[in-house]
Amino acid sequence: MKDLHNKVPVITGAASGIGRGIAEAFMAAGFKLVLSDVEQGALNATTLELRNQGADVSRAEDISKLAERTLEEYGAVHVLCNNAGVYAGSMPSWQSTLDDWNWIVGVNLMGVVHGIQTFMPLLIEQDEEVHIVNTSSIAGLINSGGTLYRTTKTAIVALSESLQQELERDAKKIKISVLCPALVDTNLLYSDRNRPSHFPKTGPQANNRSIQKTKQAFKEGNQPLAIGNQVVQAIYDERFYILPNPEWMDHIKHRANQIVSGENPTPLPPTRRQGDKALKNQTRKIDSE
Ligand SMILES: NC(=O)c1ccc[n+]([C@@H]2O[C@H](COP(=O)([O-])OP(=O)(O)OC[C@H]3O[C@@H](n4cnc5c(N)ncnc54)[C@H](O)[C@@H]3O)[C@@H](O)[C@H]2O)c1
Repeated sequence: MKDLHNKVPVITGAASGIGRGIAEAFMAAGFKLVLSDVEQGALNATTLELRNQGADVSRAEDISKLAERTLEEYGAVHVLCNNAGVYAGSMPSWQSTLDDWNWIVGVNLMGVVHGIQTFMPLLIEQDEEVHIVNTSSIAGLINSGGTLYRTTKTAIVALSESLQQELERDAKKIKISVLCPALVDTNLLYSDRNRPSHFPKTGPQANNRSIQKTKQAFKEGNQPLAIGNQVVQAIYDERFYILPNPEWMDHIKHRANQIVSGENPTPLPPTRRQGDKALKNQTRKIDSE
């Protein structure tokens, strides 16, 4: 998509973090904005021009209403960012409760499914250029990251890759990207603030030291606006994979090599972070083109 001016994007999970960074980058690129989040207060507090939709992505009916209201008010949707997501802790698979699993699968995976199921027929009917951006994570491509989180993010990559082929075949005007960042300085670790009471947190928790270490690592992560700028550029370029962190490429190759060589999986140790520096260089290169 070459002209983003006055295009209508829908961004889920837009009150905070990456969704908000995408919204800011979209504003700068000339988009109109339709933001959506369960966090009504945080959305209201943003200084951005917005239409407050208050949709919970794990509820198909909320997403249907979001689509209906967006079309009523704006007449079209040109970019759909299925971005809302949560983190349900780092406990092993069997120690995580079914409430942990159901919550994270409902938001992270079914949230994207609801976005696709609801919007695709409307986007096809609309018959205009459209771009879909599904937020996964580097954890969707490598052999590390919390088990529950990584399971949902890997599924989002698979869903997006398959959808890309379906679109190529049946709906060529609709392009798609999958966004796979490494750590970004957001509120993801505080996801419990939006955890519904029908999925109570009752299982064992990681120890405080490990939580503090993870919080520090997130603080040192990339800034959401830099990720938003990468999304804008990928929409211009019609590029499928958005990988803002080149320093993690060796981890992707390592996993692929182990699969093809028949080795048992072993994670590589985390890369020394060069994210911001690499990202800034990349962004500068894009700016100067
Ligand atoms: N922060 C990172 O390091 C990182 C890295 C890779 C991918 N991601 C992904 O980026 C996306 C955004 O997360 P973030 O890091 O900005 O975290 P964040 O907590 O700052 O933002 C997430 C947003 O999603 C909203 N949300 C939560 N549950 C929702 C629901 N059921 N329905 C609608 N909205 C809901 C929250 O209110 C919040 O505004 C997520 O999909 C996350 O998995 C984050």
